[in-house]
Amino acid sequence: MTIRTETADGVARIEIARPEKKNAITVAMYQQMADAIAAAHDDRSVRAILIHGQPDIFTAGNDLEDFMKNPPAGMDAPVFQFIAALGYAEKPVVAAVNGAAVGIGTTMLLHCDLVYCADNAMFSMPFVSLGLCAEFASSLLVPLYAGYHKAAEKLLLGEPMSAEEALEMKVVNRILPPDEVLGYAKRQAARFNGLPPTSVRETKRLMKSAWKSITEKVIEDEGRTFGRMLHSAEAKEAFSAFFERRKPDFSRFG
Ligand code: COA
Repeated sequence: MTIRTETADGVARIEIARPEKKNAITVAMYQQMADAIAAAHDDRSVRAILIHGQPDIFTAGNDLEDFMKNPPAGMDAPVFQFIAALGYAEKPVVAAVNGAAVGIGTTMLLHCDLVYCADNAMFSMPFVSLGLCAEFASSLLVPLYAGYHKAAEKLLLGEPMSAEEALEMKVVNRILPPDEVLGYAKRQAARFNGLPPTSVRETKRLMKSAWKSITEKVIEDEGRTFGRMLHSAEAKEAFSAFFERRKPDFSRFG
């Protein structure tokens, strides 16, 4: 089981549970998460969705082996379905992050409503060092949340963010001790049980509506570019280097 789901006390919980591979996400796991969000949408008893990983890892991002074998073939690929489900979720989405949140692990947080992280959390968007490019509106949302220059350090240089920096950059709401993050996030999610659900949904819709069409445009542009770059020699060098546990060599590219 790589994605565990459970609905209790009005909260649909999605747990990324593949610790032996640092919670790297495969195509099948994206599909499971997209399906879980759709099920939460249809379940009248659900007032909020909670996404979390394991006590020492949120996710190492895309499973690089699976990603090379099954690259996203189009806008209906499971990874797009997952981000669309998250981005369009009418109900509030809360995330609890312990440990590393790499690549899409950080990108998905940009689409959540409330994000709580442990003081040992580490965020990174190493798309450039993988020969790829920003994905799923991160090229829009990171500059929007944190300012262009900070975003350039994170997206162009791929510099990791500590929990404190993620808080400063407005990517997370609050930092907690590692063993308190999940409990706190669960309690925050459960608070929606005491609020009128239509008001919550409409307010969320209004908060997102001004950015909706631009976000969709950016995601399309990023998706096309990412899809093309995935087959590039630069990406092949970066991916091979990861599995051969060596430093990539981009010196031959111009
Ligand atoms: N895809 C596929 N497998 C991955 C993976 C990924 N993104 N991240 C980790 N793994 C696998 C490793 O290959 C290793 O497998 P093995 O035990 O069969 O050799 C196992 O998970 C443990 O990983 P390891 O690197 O030894 O753990 P670590 O604690 O030293 O480092 C990370 C953890 C997350 C910092 C590191 O694994 C990492 O940088 N992963 C790649 C992140 C990445 O580039 N993601 C893609 C973003 S688009």
